[in-house]
Amino acid sequence: MDAQEATKQINELKHSLGITIAAHYYQRDEVIAVADLVGDSLELSRKASGDPNEFLVFCGVGFMAQSVKTLAPNKRVFMPRTACCSMARMIDGNSYDRSIAAMKAAGIAPENIMPITYINSQAEIKARVAKMGGLVCTSANAETIIRSALASGKKIFFIPDRCLGLNLAKRIGITAAVLGRDADFASADLIAFDGFCSVHQLFTPENIHFYRAKFPDILIAVHPECDPAVVDLADFVGSTSQIIKWVQAQPIAQKIAVGTEFNLVNRLRAENTFVLSSTKPECPTMNETTLGDVLGVIRSIENGTFMNEMFVEEEERKWAKIALDRMLAL
Ligand code: 13P
Ligand code: SF4
Repeated sequence: MDAQEATKQINELKHSLGITIAAHYYQRDEVIAVADLVGDSLELSRKASGDPNEFLVFCGVGFMAQSVKTLAPNKRVFMPRTACCSMARMIDGNSYDRSIAAMKAAGIAPENIMPITYINSQAEIKARVAKMGGLVCTSANAETIIRSALASGKKIFFIPDRCLGLNLAKRIGITAAVLGRDADFASADLIAFDGFCSVHQLFTPENIHFYRAKFPDILIAVHPECDPAVVDLADFVGSTSQIIKWVQAQPIAQKIAVGTEFNLVNRLRAENTFVLSSTKPECPTMNETTLGDVLGVIRSIENGTFMNEMFVEEEERKWAKIALDRMLAL
């Protein structure tokens, strides 16, 4: 079936069955075209959980669909593909517990730890964080969340993205260390888990030097999941939605190189916008979702086989919701 026919069938079926389709900015263009809600991870968790339709088809990665199910348990959430974020899979309950034990062995009592988990994490981790009094952040609100957590006077344990943690610590002006890398981590204000995004690791200081040499007036915008060495050289650092707004506010003649996922950058604006990488920075799992998959999952709702439905165990969900609600309250 060609893309036009698949789009037509998706649009007809989603209306007749009362299905809302949500898509993260990193999805392919043809998937964005059939979506009712498009946004970054924070916008999508807010918009999708408040959407009136019972059925939600979520085009993105697992932790995003899980966040909607956590916030709105009566909603039936489906994924066209059970795609996952590799960063979110870098920490599980066992490695979380071992990290807390390592901090305790270094003289930091668990009651003196304030855990903050990036929304790119499993419900299991959000639940553990909530039980210790912690909360969730996204790249759009991480600075606000860390600043408010500092008021507790506790050490911040930042999970799972070391780059986001180190970048924010630098911006706020607090000390930071990476667990398992820095021997004297116990003295730092923010202790980061050693996770990372393989897509945003593709951007290097050399990419920035290349573009600045080619176009002396170019501006560089990057996502805070990039390495601190890259973030330090950028003109603008922001979440996906913040990057979009910032680029669109620049004059069309302004040359800009953007360090985030390919599909988003490619859609930003046709003129004078470049991908800040010598390779194509595609998030492989985000790119797995095709129009055929979207149609397939909608047909499964139609025929009652309910493919790829998301479930979160109730006890875990309740605690993960506490961590998400604490973020939304701020
Ligand atoms: P945003 O929170 O900016 O949407 O980013 C999510 C993500 O996975 C970035 O790689
Ligand atoms: Fe996860 Fe990186 Fe893909 Fe974002 S771009 S979903 S952090 S693997």
